[in-house]
Amino acid sequence: MPEKPFEGRFYYIETFGCQQNERDSEIIAGILEDLGFLPSDVFSADIIIFNTCAVRETAEEKIKGKIGALKALKYKNKDLVIGIGGCMTAVEETAEEIYKTFPFVSFVFGTGALEKLPRLIKDAFNGRRTPLGDESGEIPEELPSVRRDPYRADVSVMYGCDNFCTYCIVPYTRGRERSRLPDEILKEVSAAVKGGAKEITLLGQNVNSYGKGLPEKTSFPELLSSVASLEGDFRVRFMTSHPKDASDALFEAMAANPKICKHLHLPVQSGSDRVLKAMNRRYTAAHYISLIKKARALIPDLVVTSDIIVGFPGETEEDFEETLDLLREIRFDSLFTFIYSVRRGTRAATMEGKIDEKTAHARFDRLVALQNAVSRAENEALVGKTLRLLVTGKSETDPAVLAARSEGNRLCHLKADLSLIGKFVNAEIISAKTWSLEASVRP
Ligand code: SAH
Ligand code: SF4
Ligand code: F3S
Repeated sequence: MPEKPFEGRFYYIETFGCQQNERDSEIIAGILEDLGFLPSDVFSADIIIFNTCAVRETAEEKIKGKIGALKALKYKNKDLVIGIGGCMTAVEETAEEIYKTFPFVSFVFGTGALEKLPRLIKDAFNGRRTPLGDESGEIPEELPSVRRDPYRADVSVMYGCDNFCTYCIVPYTRGRERSRLPDEILKEVSAAVKGGAKEITLLGQNVNSYGKGLPEKTSFPELLSSVASLEGDFRVRFMTSHPKDASDALFEAMAANPKICKHLHLPVQSGSDRVLKAMNRRYTAAHYISLIKKARALIPDLVVTSDIIVGFPGETEEDFEETLDLLREIRFDSLFTFIYSVRRGTRAATMEGKIDEKTAHARFDRLVALQNAVSRAENEALVGKTLRLLVTGKSETDPAVLAARSEGNRLCHLKADLSLIGKFVNAEIISAKTWSLEASVRP
């Protein structure tokens, strides 16, 4: 067989969901390019791969709509190969449903089957629609990858999740927690930095429990410190942390090393102890607040961001008010806010006390209004200050200006020369909006 059996053919990948999926898509792209495919737009592609997300129903519905729309392309080109992977197809019933509903889909694969892709792809091009596969769940070491951003590299430190928050599908789509060996991670970070990456994001669903099950005892703060002591001009961030496992050692490591971004993304989900218990989060609001106080005392100018779910089964007006109180007390720099979405197979799916849509939406709007006011005030307080920014490229909304990110991952826009893309600059904040800042490079 020739080394690159698909030379001269084209691929298109569309990614939904979180950074874990983005990283997996880089590996999928690496596998495809090793087989000889080159990237193209969706219309010229010989193979289209969707990497799907199952975290909320809205995400799933949107993806199903988009898969349905591929039928027209398949109609025009009957040799088109369509593969659906990721978190939706990691759930057996959903994989079956997709296979049945969309007969033009050539193959489906879950999150733990990336190493099987070359075989699935070859079979599909030979006209074979492979049966639904089993997953190995093995850590994909030694798989190729094509990084999508030359200046920012995501590096997975662990896969899966063992927490089983009662609302969440991820433990079912990503399987049990597996940590990568520290040496593998350090090797990957070094290679990315040598390749020009200026910002490394260490990825995992719950990075604070990194190290469980490894032959030598280690911890996330240790790993983070080792990464930050590698040579080179770069900075490192991480996500996501779980409040039950965030430790003093983590905050101390962040405070001690200038290469570690002073940004903590610590999802709280709710400010009500009753709801937190029903969510199986295993901490109280008071514990969460004490963690943030400790972190802020150790790390001046720490940027704190979080995730909140409203409308969890049984959430009362008082529970929701407690969430708003927590927001007022902590004053997050920004928030990801979600309306609870029932996920088949999770424990919350069968809980009583479903919140009607109108109430959930009204709470959501109140939550967002409060947070927007806080975000704007926090951003306005930065006007006149100088931040160290990484210039990431042209702005998506206005190509005449450049986009950059602060250590706290705040989006900044600045008018500056294109040659600054991929470089760190010191810039003064000159004006603030709710979701972004305008900055000016300091001479
Ligand atoms: N591992 C991370 C993130 C998981 S998914 C963590 O533990 O924080 C990202 C966010 O999606 C979660 O933090 C949660 O706020 C939200 N989410 C997860 N399942 C959800 C559901 N069923 N309905 C609504 N939001 C959900
Ligand atoms: Fe889901 Fe909870 Fe695991 Fe996060 S920690 S992925 S919310 S189960
Ligand atoms: Fe979605 Fe899977 Fe990530 S469900 S949020 S893509 S882990």
